[in-house]
Amino acid sequence: MAGGVVVSSGGGKDYPGKLTMFVLFACIVAATGGLIFGYDIGISGGVTSMNPFLMKFFPSVYHKEQEAERNQSNQYCKFDSQLLTMFTSSLYLAALVASFCAATVTRVAGRKWSMFGGGVTFLVGAALNGAAKDVVMLILGRVLLGIGVGFANQAVPVYLSEMAPARLRGMLNIGFQLMITIGILCANLINYGTAKIKGGWGWRVSLALAAVPAAIIAVGALFLPDTPNSLIDRGYTEDAKRMLKRVRGTEDVEEEYNDLVAASEESKLVAHPWSNILQPRYRPQLVMAIAIPMFQQLTGINVIMFYAPVLFKTLGFADDASLMSAVITGLVNVFATFVSIVTVDRLGRRKLFLQGGTQMLACQIVVGSLIGAKFGFSGVAEIPKAYAAIVVLFICAYVAGFAWSWGPLGWLVPSEIFPLEIRSAGQSINVSVNMLCTFIIAQAFLPMLCRFKFILFFFFGAWVVVMTIFVALFLPETKNVPIEEMVLVWKAHWYWGRFIRDEDVHVGADLEMPSANGNGKVGAGKLGGMQ
Ligand code: BGC
Repeated sequence: MAGGVVVSSGGGKDYPGKLTMFVLFACIVAATGGLIFGYDIGISGGVTSMNPFLMKFFPSVYHKEQEAERNQSNQYCKFDSQLLTMFTSSLYLAALVASFCAATVTRVAGRKWSMFGGGVTFLVGAALNGAAKDVVMLILGRVLLGIGVGFANQAVPVYLSEMAPARLRGMLNIGFQLMITIGILCANLINYGTAKIKGGWGWRVSLALAAVPAAIIAVGALFLPDTPNSLIDRGYTEDAKRMLKRVRGTEDVEEEYNDLVAASEESKLVAHPWSNILQPRYRPQLVMAIAIPMFQQLTGINVIMFYAPVLFKTLGFADDASLMSAVITGLVNVFATFVSIVTVDRLGRRKLFLQGGTQMLACQIVVGSLIGAKFGFSGVAEIPKAYAAIVVLFICAYVAGFAWSWGPLGWLVPSEIFPLEIRSAGQSINVSVNMLCTFIIAQAFLPMLCRFKFILFFFFGAWVVVMTIFVALFLPETKNVPIEEMVLVWKAHWYWGRFIRDEDVHVGADLEMPSANGNGKVGAGKLGGMQ
């Protein structure tokens, strides 16, 4: 293809096309894959704070909790049980392993079948959990749920980023995070309701209702078209062109199509995506695929998401009040996500990361100090209502900061930075690191709370400092850049540029080379020898 390509202000080409209803609808359906993940995140914390559930499966935890209440003893330690945390975290181990298989399925069979498989497996897990008679059944069910989550989280973000026109990619991709937050909120609300069921079987309803989001994504996936990128990659070039016209709402797709074909051809030269990703030229993507999910979890968000009811109970809230507070944080989480939906493609990813990180840090310092001032190290105190309300307020501001930064961007950025030849492998590194860190935090939180006490909030705060500096220095701006051109952004970065040789830069067309500096601003410059 000849030169003369328009370079948009964002640094990439502006392919013709608009946001069609077709693409919007497909993205909404695909994003429902986030519901199963979210539902699960939200449901476990509430269920593990329900006494009938604890009595049936974890009697020792139940007795310890009762004793702590009677003796007014150390509040920080009353829920510390490895078996109980295993219930929460087994899912993440399963998801971790599953994401590697999902990488192959997503590449070879297409994105939609990964989503379908994820939904169906999750459905079976939900049934097992709802009917659980013992801990084994419970954990087995969770392993199946985990496999479902592994597949969905592998396929959905990539699907959304491939379907979306470049300049709206952020917005559409964050649909996934929005569904995660809606899933969490629904779970919180359901727990609030089922905890009131007399008879002590409310937890069964909570766990079995996971079948609803699972059915939505499983059925939805059947109707989803595959992405043009994936169709080309699997040899369906004519279908791909037709699909591209349909998703872009124009006949004028030749240029984008040719670029996708070029990207696919180049990716075919790569026999082993797994060993390939280790080559120096993929160093920036590899580092991001590990660092971003790891940092996302080290914000400490899941301490709130999994354990909000337990945490609020620890703070001395009654059962009902602690579930209610979890509903409040859940609402904040959903609404704050909209902030990123409307700003991510205008302000860009970096500004949101930097602002959100600063806000989270400030809140962590305040919450840690407030809890420390009341409970000290002994963990014995009565917290006045107004005081507790202020703690909840700052926890909400922290959740909001996360919900427009690390939450959505933790899924968006990794899904848009990999070239096709390593996309599935890269995404599965992203998913598995995320799951591994979620597992570690889920498993470590209660023992850490018991030992570090309020210092725990400062611990996560320190990580937020590290990740914010990391973003400032090492993450270039990726807004508006077509995915198949992302290499230009890395090449132009002050640090990552050194890993990428000129001859590694192919974007399927002669192109003006954008020069990105640290803050991601892209200016024009010519890269010699590029083709
Ligand atoms: C994270 C989850 C987290 C959720 C909270 C997601 O992006 O991956 O671990 O619980 O956001 O909304």
